[in-house]
Amino acid sequence: MDELDEFCQGLQIDMDKKVEEAYGKKIAEIWKNLKYFNVLEKGDGIGKLTGSCGDSVEILIKVKGGKIDEISYWTDGCIATVVCGSLVCDLAHGKPLEEAEKISGEDVLIELPKLPEDHHHCAFLAANTLHEAIGDYYRKMQKQR
Ligand code: FES
Repeated sequence: MDELDEFCQGLQIDMDKKVEEAYGKKIAEIWKNLKYFNVLEKGDGIGKLTGSCGDSVEILIKVKGGKIDEISYWTDGCIATVVCGSLVCDLAHGKPLEEAEKISGEDVLIELPKLPEDHHHCAFLAANTLHEAIGDYYRKMQKQR
């Protein structure tokens, strides 16, 4: 490991520690193991929303047999939004569309009770972006008929 690698690893460890101190263990665990944070490629439905804070979230879904077969997201937002986006994708992955569209910001807050109140809007931004992606999928399907 060269000096730069060691420096970067040190920064990452320091940041992970700070996330755990600020947001608790569960959020820190999601933060360290982000599963769906990807540069978005072409999909069946895409949702893009910008919150009142000015941060944006994009969610892309691929649908197979009426279920969310693949999902990914991207955000330029805060740590809370990165974590909420990951959780929303995890909750939606593999679910039938009718179930996935019911996933709400409240569901995210139930899963992440330590999310600070001034970041609750990040949970709603992530969930609402999922709804946009599902809505986009339905609109595209409608046009094909
Ligand atoms: S989405 Fe802007 S503060 Fe979290």
